[in-house]
Amino acid sequence: MNVKVAVVTGGGSGIGAAIARKLSAIGYHVVVTDLNLSAAETIASELKFAEAMKLDVTTLFDSSAVASAVSKKHGRLDLWVSNAGVSKMLPFTEITEEIFDFTMDVNLKGVFFAGQAAAKEMIQLGNRDGVIINIASMAGKQGKVPYLSDYVASKFGVVGLTQAMAFELAPHGIRVNSVCPGYVATPMQVRELAWEAELRGVSADAVRNLWIADTPLGRLEQPEDVAKVVAFLASDEAGFVTGEALAINGGAFMD
Ligand SMILES: NC(=O)c1ccc[n+]([C@@H]2O[C@H](COP(=O)([O-])OP(=O)(O)OC[C@H]3O[C@@H](n4cnc5c(N)ncnc54)[C@H](O)[C@@H]3O)[C@@H](O)[C@H]2O)c1
Repeated sequence: MNVKVAVVTGGGSGIGAAIARKLSAIGYHVVVTDLNLSAAETIASELKFAEAMKLDVTTLFDSSAVASAVSKKHGRLDLWVSNAGVSKMLPFTEITEEIFDFTMDVNLKGVFFAGQAAAKEMIQLGNRDGVIINIASMAGKQGKVPYLSDYVASKFGVVGLTQAMAFELAPHGIRVNSVCPGYVATPMQVRELAWEAELRGVSADAVRNLWIADTPLGRLEQPEDVAKVVAFLASDEAGFVTGEALAINGGAFMD
């Protein structure tokens, strides 16, 4: 196949769906994957060259199976976007071991083993231009984030892991970067608005206004803002960028 092939995890919703749409628009064949297969199928059905597969990032088995199926079917694997992630807002003192493990399983272990599966397949295919992009967060660069301490820990982990992957995979020609979005309007954000409003005892609108006020560019981030930067990092224009954690947050956190 001459068309580049990309896999997106958590592609059935929000940022992952926007990334799948953008990659399709710039000519990739996109394998839209998600824990929720029917959500992935809905997004894939909108796109020109795409297919849907079930992939639960908490199991290495699923990531390996998808990476190997894609490489067998298409003979190539050019781009892997580890986007799947979860959040649950709670005060630090109330986070249970179970909640912590769940967050880490999806947000950090999932990125680790999906990336491992993708890298192994790229190396086996002899692909010298492979790209892996991990969706971290503004909360992967600063801990001044209310009620998300387990999430913060997982996303700092993603930023560090991205650097380690970039370092070890560079000899294979594989570039690895992460992106750090801010307040992005997605179903995850709708859930977080409700949790934060309850925890602070204010309305969801008040929380939304706080988030906008915290963003110098003065609006909520859209999933497409993230997708455009992912497309840039995947492109040859970013051919000498690796190990980076690129902020996409309208100035909400500058480092
Ligand atoms: N929305 C934000 O403000 C924001 C900000 C910074 C970073 N992020 C990150 O962006 C990514 C996407 O977030 P979103 O806002 O689009 O969330 P979302 O909840 O809208 O979508 C997440 C998708 O991931 C899927 N998913 C959940 N667990 C999975 C698993 N175990 N395996 C595979 N898929 C799974 C869900 O089914 C869903 O389709 C996440 O990593 C999130 O942490 C979001």
